[in-house]
Amino acid sequence: MDHFGYRGSDLYAEDVSINEIAERFGTPCFVYSKATLIRHFHAYADAIADIPHLVCYGMKANSNLAVLELLAKEGAGFDIVSIGELERVIQAGANPHKIVFSGVGKQAHEMQRALEVGIHCFNIESLAELDQLNSVATKIGITAPVSLRINPDVDPKTHPYISTGLKDNKFGIAHNNTLQAYKYAQSLKGLRVIGIDCHIGSQLTETGPLLEALDKLLELIELLNAEGIVIKHIDLGGGLGVTYQDETPPHPAEYLAAVKSRLAGRNLKLILEPGRSIAANAGIFITRTILIKTNQEQNFAIVDGAMNDLIRPALYGAWQRIIPVSTTDKEGQIEALFDVVGPICESGDFFGKNRLLKIAAGDLLAVRSSGAYGFVMASNYNSRPRAPEILVDGKEIYLIRERESLESLWALEHRVNK
Ligand code: LLP
Repeated sequence: MDHFGYRGSDLYAEDVSINEIAERFGTPCFVYSKATLIRHFHAYADAIADIPHLVCYGMKANSNLAVLELLAKEGAGFDIVSIGELERVIQAGANPHKIVFSGVGKQAHEMQRALEVGIHCFNIESLAELDQLNSVATKIGITAPVSLRINPDVDPKTHPYISTGLKDNKFGIAHNNTLQAYKYAQSLKGLRVIGIDCHIGSQLTETGPLLEALDKLLELIELLNAEGIVIKHIDLGGGLGVTYQDETPPHPAEYLAAVKSRLAGRNLKLILEPGRSIAANAGIFITRTILIKTNQEQNFAIVDGAMNDLIRPALYGAWQRIIPVSTTDKEGQIEALFDVVGPICESGDFFGKNRLLKIAAGDLLAVRSSGAYGFVMASNYNSRPRAPEILVDGKEIYLIRERESLESLWALEHRVNK
Protein backbone atom coordinates (compact mmCIF):
# COMPACT_ATOMS: atom_id res chain seq x y z
CA MET A 1 0.00 0.00 0.00
CA ASP A 2 1.19 3.50 -0.76
CA HIS A 3 0.06 7.06 -0.18
CA PHE A 4 -0.46 8.19 -3.77
CA GLY A 5 -4.00 8.45 -5.06
CA TYR A 6 -6.69 10.66 -6.56
CA ARG A 7 -8.73 13.13 -4.58
CA GLY A 8 -11.52 14.07 -6.93
CA SER A 9 -9.78 14.43 -10.26
CA ASP A 10 -6.34 15.32 -8.92
CA LEU A 11 -3.44 13.06 -8.03
CA TYR A 12 -2.08 13.52 -4.52
CA ALA A 13 0.98 12.40 -2.60
CA GLU A 14 -0.29 12.13 0.97
CA ASP A 15 -2.07 15.50 1.51
CA VAL A 16 -0.34 17.39 -1.26
CA SER A 17 -1.56 17.90 -4.81
CA ILE A 18 0.95 16.88 -7.46
CA ASN A 19 -0.20 19.82 -9.56
CA GLU A 20 0.95 22.13 -6.81
CA ILE A 21 4.36 20.45 -6.66
CA ALA A 22 4.79 20.70 -10.43
CA GLU A 23 3.87 24.39 -10.36
CA ARG A 24 6.28 25.10 -7.56
CA PHE A 25 9.30 23.04 -8.57
CA GLY A 26 8.82 22.53 -12.28
CA THR A 27 9.08 19.27 -14.20
CA PRO A 28 10.45 16.70 -14.48
CA CYS A 29 10.73 15.86 -10.78
CA PHE A 30 10.63 12.94 -8.37
CA VAL A 31 8.10 12.96 -5.51
CA TYR A 32 8.45 10.63 -2.52
CA SER A 33 6.00 9.86 0.28
CA LYS A 34 7.49 9.68 3.75
CA ALA A 35 4.59 7.69 5.19
CA THR A 36 5.01 5.08 2.44
CA LEU A 37 8.75 4.71 3.03
CA ILE A 38 8.19 4.24 6.75
CA ARG A 39 5.33 1.83 6.24
CA HIS A 40 7.41 -0.33 3.88
CA PHE A 41 10.37 -0.36 6.25
CA HIS A 42 8.12 -1.50 9.09
CA ALA A 43 6.61 -4.23 6.93
CA TYR A 44 10.04 -5.84 7.44
CA ALA A 45 11.07 -4.64 10.88
CA ASP A 46 7.75 -5.46 12.54
CA ALA A 47 7.54 -8.93 11.00
CA ILE A 48 10.83 -9.94 12.63
CA ALA A 49 10.67 -7.78 15.75
CA ASP A 50 10.45 -10.91 17.90
CA ILE A 51 13.76 -12.39 16.75
CA PRO A 52 17.30 -10.93 16.71
CA HIS A 53 17.48 -9.00 13.46
CA LEU A 54 18.84 -6.08 11.47
CA VAL A 55 17.07 -4.61 8.45
CA CYS A 56 19.83 -3.05 6.33
CA TYR A 57 18.08 -0.93 3.70
CA GLY A 58 19.75 -1.53 0.31
CA MET A 59 20.55 2.14 -0.14
CA LYS A 60 21.51 1.83 -3.79
CA ALA A 61 17.76 1.92 -4.48
CA ASN A 62 17.38 5.51 -3.30
CA SER A 63 20.14 7.22 -1.40
CA ASN A 64 18.91 10.76 -0.91
CA LEU A 65 20.12 12.01 2.49
CA ALA A 66 16.59 12.80 3.66
CA VAL A 67 15.42 9.28 2.78
CA LEU A 68 18.39 7.72 4.59
CA GLU A 69 17.89 9.96 7.59
CA LEU A 70 14.27 9.07 8.04
CA LEU A 71 14.99 5.34 7.76
CA ALA A 72 17.91 5.64 10.19
CA LYS A 73 15.53 7.28 12.66
CA GLU A 74 13.21 4.28 12.33
CA GLY A 75 16.11 2.04 13.34
CA ALA A 76 17.27 0.88 9.91
CA GLY A 77 20.74 -0.35 9.20
CA PHE A 78 22.17 0.00 5.71
CA ASP A 79 23.63 -2.18 2.99
CA ILE A 80 26.35 -0.21 1.19
CA VAL A 81 28.44 -0.95 -1.88
CA SER A 82 30.94 1.91 -2.10
CA ILE A 83 32.83 4.53 -0.12
CA GLY A 84 30.39 7.06 -1.56
CA GLU A 85 27.47 5.22 0.00
CA LEU A 86 29.38 4.85 3.27
CA GLU A 87 30.16 8.57 3.60
CA ARG A 88 26.67 9.51 2.43
CA VAL A 89 24.91 7.35 4.98
CA ILE A 90 27.17 8.56 7.79
CA GLN A 91 26.28 12.12 6.75
CA ALA A 92 22.64 11.12 7.08
CA GLY A 93 23.19 10.05 10.69
CA ALA A 94 23.35 6.27 10.34
CA ASN A 95 24.86 4.13 13.07
CA PRO A 96 28.02 2.58 11.51
CA HIS A 97 27.56 -0.55 13.61
CA LYS A 98 24.41 -1.26 11.60
CA ILE A 99 26.14 -1.19 8.20
CA VAL A 100 26.98 -4.17 6.03
CA PHE A 101 29.31 -3.70 3.06
CA SER A 102 28.45 -5.68 -0.09
CA GLY A 103 29.97 -5.70 -3.57
CA VAL A 104 32.33 -7.81 -5.67
CA GLY A 105 35.13 -5.27 -5.97
CA LYS A 106 35.75 -3.37 -2.75
CA GLN A 107 39.00 -1.42 -2.81
CA ALA A 108 41.60 -1.18 -0.05
CA HIS A 109 40.83 2.46 0.77
CA GLU A 110 37.11 1.65 1.04
CA MET A 111 37.83 -1.29 3.33
CA GLN A 112 40.07 0.85 5.51
CA ARG A 113 37.49 3.58 6.01
CA ALA A 114 34.77 1.01 6.75
CA LEU A 115 37.01 -0.62 9.36
CA GLU A 116 37.80 2.74 10.93
CA VAL A 117 34.13 3.66 11.38
CA GLY A 118 33.39 0.19 12.74
CA ILE A 119 30.85 -1.31 10.35
CA HIS A 120 28.94 -4.42 11.37
CA CYS A 121 30.20 -6.73 8.64
CA PHE A 122 31.96 -7.10 5.28
CA ASN A 123 30.10 -9.37 2.87
CA ILE A 124 33.04 -10.96 1.09
CA GLU A 125 32.72 -12.47 -2.37
CA SER A 126 36.06 -14.11 -3.19
CA LEU A 127 39.31 -15.46 -1.74
CA ALA A 128 41.18 -12.56 -3.31
CA GLU A 129 38.93 -10.18 -1.41
CA LEU A 130 39.61 -12.07 1.84
CA ASP A 131 43.33 -11.55 1.30
CA GLN A 132 42.87 -7.89 0.52
CA LEU A 133 40.72 -7.25 3.60
CA ASN A 134 43.10 -9.22 5.78
CA SER A 135 46.04 -7.13 4.67
CA VAL A 136 44.20 -3.82 5.25
CA ALA A 137 42.94 -5.00 8.67
CA THR A 138 46.37 -6.21 9.74
CA LYS A 139 48.00 -2.98 8.60
CA ILE A 140 45.73 -0.75 10.69
CA GLY A 141 45.32 -3.22 13.57
CA ILE A 142 41.51 -3.55 13.45
CA THR A 143 40.01 -7.02 13.13
CA ALA A 144 37.49 -7.20 10.28
CA PRO A 145 34.12 -8.88 10.87
CA VAL A 146 33.28 -10.98 7.80
CA SER A 147 30.51 -12.94 6.21
CA LEU A 148 30.98 -14.90 2.99
CA ARG A 149 28.50 -14.32 0.22
CA ILE A 150 27.59 -17.72 -1.10
CA ASN A 151 26.26 -18.12 -4.60
CA PRO A 152 23.65 -20.83 -4.01
CA ASP A 153 23.00 -21.47 -7.72
CA VAL A 154 19.27 -20.89 -7.51
CA ASP A 155 17.24 -19.50 -10.39
CA PRO A 156 15.46 -16.40 -9.08
CA LYS A 157 13.26 -16.24 -12.22
CA THR A 158 13.79 -12.55 -12.86
CA HIS A 159 15.33 -10.29 -15.52
CA PRO A 160 18.85 -11.56 -16.44
CA TYR A 161 20.46 -8.19 -15.60
CA ILE A 162 19.24 -8.36 -12.01
CA SER A 163 19.67 -12.08 -11.43
CA THR A 164 22.71 -12.67 -9.26
CA GLY A 165 22.50 -16.11 -7.68
CA LEU A 166 23.17 -18.38 -10.66
CA LYS A 167 26.51 -20.10 -10.95
CA ASP A 168 27.48 -18.20 -14.10
CA ASN A 169 26.93 -14.79 -12.45
CA LYS A 170 29.96 -12.86 -11.19
CA PHE A 171 28.62 -12.82 -7.63
CA GLY A 172 29.59 -14.71 -4.52
CA ILE A 173 31.61 -17.79 -3.70
CA ALA A 174 30.53 -21.00 -5.42
CA HIS A 175 28.33 -23.12 -3.20
CA ASN A 176 30.66 -26.13 -3.29
CA ASN A 177 33.70 -24.07 -2.31
CA THR A 178 32.06 -22.82 0.89
CA LEU A 179 33.88 -24.94 3.48
CA GLN A 180 37.26 -24.34 1.91
CA ALA A 181 36.63 -20.57 1.76
CA TYR A 182 35.55 -20.42 5.41
CA LYS A 183 38.56 -22.42 6.50
CA TYR A 184 40.76 -20.02 4.62
CA ALA A 185 38.98 -16.99 6.17
CA GLN A 186 39.49 -18.44 9.64
CA SER A 187 43.19 -18.91 9.02
CA LEU A 188 43.65 -15.17 8.37
CA LYS A 189 44.58 -13.32 11.54
CA GLY A 190 43.02 -9.99 10.56
CA LEU A 191 39.55 -11.44 10.10
CA ARG A 192 36.77 -12.62 12.41
CA VAL A 193 34.16 -14.82 10.74
CA ILE A 194 30.65 -13.92 11.94
CA GLY A 195 28.14 -14.62 9.20
CA ILE A 196 26.97 -16.06 5.94
CA ASP A 197 25.03 -14.23 3.23
CA CYS A 198 23.46 -14.40 -0.19
CA HIS A 199 21.49 -12.21 -2.55
CA ILE A 200 20.06 -14.13 -5.49
CA GLY A 201 18.46 -11.34 -7.48
CA SER A 202 16.00 -8.49 -7.55
CA GLN A 203 12.29 -8.04 -8.35
CA LEU A 204 11.52 -11.57 -7.21
CA THR A 205 7.81 -12.31 -7.27
CA GLU A 206 7.80 -15.72 -5.57
CA THR A 207 9.21 -16.87 -2.25
CA GLY A 208 10.28 -20.25 -3.65
CA PRO A 209 13.77 -19.29 -4.88
CA LEU A 210 14.45 -17.17 -1.76
CA LEU A 211 13.55 -20.06 0.53
CA GLU A 212 15.52 -22.52 -1.57
CA ALA A 213 18.57 -20.28 -1.12
CA LEU A 214 17.87 -20.06 2.62
CA ASP A 215 17.67 -23.84 2.90
CA LYS A 216 20.99 -24.19 1.11
CA LEU A 217 22.61 -21.70 3.48
CA LEU A 218 21.19 -23.47 6.53
CA GLU A 219 22.67 -26.75 5.31
CA LEU A 220 26.01 -25.01 4.90
CA ILE A 221 25.80 -23.57 8.42
CA GLU A 222 25.45 -27.11 9.75
CA LEU A 223 28.41 -28.24 7.74
CA LEU A 224 30.45 -25.31 9.05
CA ASN A 225 29.34 -25.86 12.65
CA ALA A 226 30.48 -29.46 12.41
CA GLU A 227 33.90 -28.12 11.50
CA GLY A 228 33.90 -25.79 14.49
CA ILE A 229 33.14 -22.65 12.48
CA VAL A 230 30.47 -20.65 14.30
CA ILE A 231 28.07 -18.57 12.25
CA LYS A 232 26.24 -15.87 14.21
CA HIS A 233 24.11 -14.31 11.53
CA ILE A 234 22.48 -15.17 8.25
CA ASP A 235 21.96 -12.36 5.73
CA LEU A 236 19.44 -13.15 2.98
CA GLY A 237 20.06 -9.99 0.93
CA GLY A 238 17.20 -8.08 -0.65
CA GLY A 239 15.23 -8.95 -3.72
CA LEU A 240 11.55 -9.01 -2.88
CA GLY A 241 9.67 -7.60 -5.85
CA VAL A 242 6.97 -4.97 -6.09
CA THR A 243 3.85 -4.49 -8.18
CA TYR A 244 4.73 -2.46 -11.25
CA GLN A 245 1.95 -3.83 -13.44
CA ASP A 246 0.12 -6.97 -12.37
CA GLU A 247 2.82 -8.82 -10.43
CA THR A 248 1.68 -10.23 -7.11
CA PRO A 249 4.86 -10.47 -5.04
CA PRO A 250 4.57 -11.89 -1.54
CA HIS A 251 4.13 -9.41 1.30
CA PRO A 252 7.30 -9.21 3.44
CA ALA A 253 5.33 -10.66 6.37
CA GLU A 254 4.45 -13.75 4.34
CA TYR A 255 8.03 -14.29 3.22
CA LEU A 256 9.40 -13.63 6.70
CA ALA A 257 6.96 -16.00 8.40
CA ALA A 258 8.43 -18.77 6.25
CA VAL A 259 11.96 -17.59 7.05
CA LYS A 260 11.26 -17.47 10.78
CA SER A 261 9.85 -20.97 10.85
CA ARG A 262 13.08 -22.24 9.29
CA LEU A 263 15.23 -20.28 11.73
CA ALA A 264 13.32 -21.45 14.81
CA GLY A 265 15.54 -23.14 17.36
CA ARG A 266 18.72 -21.89 15.74
CA ASN A 267 20.84 -19.27 17.37
CA LEU A 268 21.06 -16.99 14.34
CA LYS A 269 20.49 -13.28 13.91
CA LEU A 270 18.62 -12.47 10.70
CA ILE A 271 19.89 -9.69 8.43
CA LEU A 272 17.98 -8.47 5.38
CA GLU A 273 18.92 -5.95 2.67
CA PRO A 274 15.67 -4.83 1.03
CA GLY A 275 15.87 -1.87 -1.33
CA ARG A 276 13.20 -1.84 -4.03
CA SER A 277 10.39 -3.13 -1.83
CA ILE A 278 10.91 -0.18 0.52
CA ALA A 279 11.44 2.61 -1.98
CA ALA A 280 9.91 1.78 -5.38
CA ASN A 281 6.27 2.44 -4.66
CA ALA A 282 7.12 5.30 -2.32
CA GLY A 283 8.02 7.48 -5.29
CA ILE A 284 6.62 8.80 -8.55
CA PHE A 285 8.21 10.66 -11.43
CA ILE A 286 6.33 13.70 -12.77
CA THR A 287 6.76 14.84 -16.33
CA ARG A 288 4.93 17.33 -18.56
CA THR A 289 3.79 16.64 -22.10
CA ILE A 290 5.63 18.97 -24.46
CA LEU A 291 3.66 18.00 -27.54
CA ILE A 292 1.66 15.28 -29.17
CA LYS A 293 2.67 13.92 -32.54
CA THR A 294 1.54 11.19 -34.87
CA ASN A 295 3.86 9.37 -37.25
CA GLN A 296 2.24 6.93 -39.64
CA GLU A 297 -0.08 5.04 -37.34
CA GLN A 298 1.74 5.69 -34.05
CA ASN A 299 0.85 8.41 -31.54
CA PHE A 300 3.62 9.87 -29.43
CA ALA A 301 3.36 11.92 -26.28
CA ILE A 302 6.69 13.71 -26.12
CA VAL A 303 7.41 14.62 -22.52
CA ASP A 304 10.04 16.70 -20.73
CA GLY A 305 11.45 13.75 -18.75
CA ALA A 306 13.75 11.29 -20.49
CA MET A 307 15.83 8.13 -20.19
CA ASN A 308 18.57 10.12 -18.44
CA ASP A 309 16.10 10.77 -15.57
CA LEU A 310 14.55 7.31 -15.33
CA ILE A 311 16.39 4.65 -17.27
CA ARG A 312 14.58 1.47 -16.19
CA PRO A 313 12.28 1.21 -19.25
CA ALA A 314 15.21 1.81 -21.63
CA LEU A 315 17.68 -0.45 -19.82
CA TYR A 316 15.55 -3.40 -18.76
CA GLY A 317 12.43 -2.95 -20.87
CA ALA A 318 10.77 -2.33 -17.51
CA TRP A 319 7.06 -1.59 -17.43
CA GLN A 320 5.98 1.23 -15.11
CA ARG A 321 2.44 2.54 -14.85
CA ILE A 322 1.82 5.97 -16.39
CA ILE A 323 -1.18 7.93 -15.14
CA PRO A 324 -2.55 11.44 -15.61
CA VAL A 325 -1.98 13.93 -12.80
CA SER A 326 -5.44 15.35 -13.46
CA THR A 327 -8.38 13.41 -14.86
CA THR A 328 -10.42 16.51 -15.67
CA ASP A 329 -11.27 16.68 -19.36
CA LYS A 330 -9.60 19.52 -21.22
CA GLU A 331 -10.15 20.92 -24.65
CA GLY A 332 -7.83 19.49 -27.27
CA GLN A 333 -7.21 16.20 -25.51
CA ILE A 334 -6.91 13.08 -27.59
CA GLU A 335 -7.77 9.64 -26.26
CA ALA A 336 -5.59 7.03 -27.90
CA LEU A 337 -2.74 4.58 -27.47
CA PHE A 338 0.44 6.60 -27.00
CA ASP A 339 4.12 5.88 -26.81
CA VAL A 340 5.30 8.12 -23.99
CA VAL A 341 8.78 9.23 -25.00
CA GLY A 342 11.44 11.73 -23.99
CA PRO A 343 13.26 14.29 -26.15
CA ILE A 344 16.58 12.37 -26.32
CA CYS A 345 17.85 11.26 -29.71
CA GLU A 346 17.54 7.53 -29.10
CA SER A 347 14.69 5.17 -29.83
CA GLY A 348 15.29 3.62 -26.41
CA ASP A 349 14.20 6.89 -24.84
CA PHE A 350 10.72 5.85 -23.76
CA PHE A 351 8.77 5.46 -20.52
CA GLY A 352 5.97 3.34 -21.93
CA LYS A 353 4.59 2.04 -25.20
CA ASN A 354 0.99 1.79 -26.37
CA ARG A 355 -0.48 3.32 -23.25
CA LEU A 356 -4.12 4.33 -23.35
CA LEU A 357 -4.17 7.99 -22.34
CA LYS A 358 -6.37 11.02 -22.84
CA ILE A 359 -3.96 13.91 -23.11
CA ALA A 360 -3.05 17.20 -24.72
CA ALA A 361 0.17 19.19 -24.84
CA GLY A 362 0.90 20.66 -21.42
CA ASP A 363 -0.68 17.82 -19.43
CA LEU A 364 1.20 16.29 -16.54
CA LEU A 365 1.84 12.56 -16.31
CA ALA A 366 3.08 10.51 -13.37
CA VAL A 367 5.29 7.46 -13.85
CA ARG A 368 4.56 5.30 -10.84
CA SER A 369 6.94 3.04 -8.88
CA SER A 370 9.88 5.38 -9.48
CA GLY A 371 11.15 5.66 -5.92
CA ALA A 372 13.74 2.90 -6.36
CA TYR A 373 16.43 2.82 -9.03
CA GLY A 374 15.04 6.09 -10.41
CA PHE A 375 16.99 9.18 -9.45
CA VAL A 376 20.02 7.13 -8.36
CA MET A 377 20.49 5.86 -11.92
CA ALA A 378 20.00 9.27 -13.54
CA SER A 379 22.69 10.83 -15.70
CA ASN A 380 23.36 14.10 -17.48
CA TYR A 381 23.12 12.56 -20.95
CA ASN A 382 22.25 15.16 -23.58
CA SER A 383 23.45 17.79 -21.07
CA ARG A 384 20.23 17.52 -19.16
CA PRO A 385 20.39 18.69 -15.53
CA ARG A 386 19.20 16.02 -13.13
CA ALA A 387 15.67 16.44 -11.80
CA PRO A 388 14.85 17.61 -8.26
CA GLU A 389 13.59 15.28 -5.54
CA ILE A 390 10.71 16.28 -3.29
CA LEU A 391 9.58 14.55 -0.10
CA VAL A 392 6.00 14.87 1.10
CA ASP A 393 5.12 14.37 4.75
CA GLY A 394 1.38 14.86 5.30
CA LYS A 395 0.75 18.46 4.21
CA GLU A 396 4.44 19.37 4.31
CA ILE A 397 6.59 19.59 1.19
CA TYR A 398 10.37 19.38 1.36
CA LEU A 399 12.73 19.97 -1.52
CA ILE A 400 15.31 17.31 -0.67
CA ARG A 401 17.45 17.77 -3.78
CA GLU A 402 17.45 20.79 -6.00
CA ARG A 403 17.29 20.69 -9.76
CA GLU A 404 20.82 20.87 -11.09
CA SER A 405 21.77 24.16 -12.68
CA LEU A 406 23.06 24.40 -16.22
CA GLU A 407 26.38 25.73 -14.91
CA SER A 408 26.81 22.65 -12.74
CA LEU A 409 26.88 20.56 -15.91
CA TRP A 410 30.33 21.84 -16.84
CA ALA A 411 31.51 23.06 -13.44
CA LEU A 412 34.13 20.31 -13.10
CA GLU A 413 35.43 20.59 -16.65
CA HIS A 414 38.48 22.48 -17.87
CA ARG A 415 39.02 23.95 -21.28
CA VAL A 416 42.50 23.49 -22.67
CA ASN A 417 43.04 26.79 -24.47
CA LYS A 418 41.84 29.28 -21.94
N1 LLP B 1 21.78 -6.56 -1.54
C1 LLP B 1 22.61 -6.71 -2.59
C2 LLP B 1 23.90 -7.36 -2.40
C3 LLP B 1 22.22 -6.23 -3.87
O1 LLP B 1 23.05 -6.40 -4.90
C4 LLP B 1 20.97 -5.58 -4.04
C5 LLP B 1 20.55 -5.07 -5.33
C6 LLP B 1 20.16 -5.44 -2.90
C7 LLP B 1 20.59 -5.93 -1.68
C8 LLP B 1 18.80 -4.78 -2.96
O2 LLP B 1 17.94 -5.52 -3.75
P1 LLP B 1 16.38 -5.14 -3.90
O3 LLP B 1 15.72 -5.38 -2.57
O4 LLP B 1 16.32 -3.70 -4.28
O5 LLP B 1 15.90 -6.03 -4.97
N2 LLP B 1 18.68 -1.32 -11.09
C9 LLP B 1 17.90 -2.54 -11.05
C10 LLP B 1 18.05 -3.29 -9.75
C11 LLP B 1 19.47 -3.66 -9.39
C12 LLP B 1 19.59 -4.39 -8.08
C13 LLP B 1 21.01 -4.58 -7.70
N3 LLP B 1 21.23 -5.19 -6.41
C14 LLP B 1 16.45 -2.19 -11.37
O6 LLP B 1 16.14 -1.02 -11.55
O7 LLP B 1 15.60 -3.07 -11.47
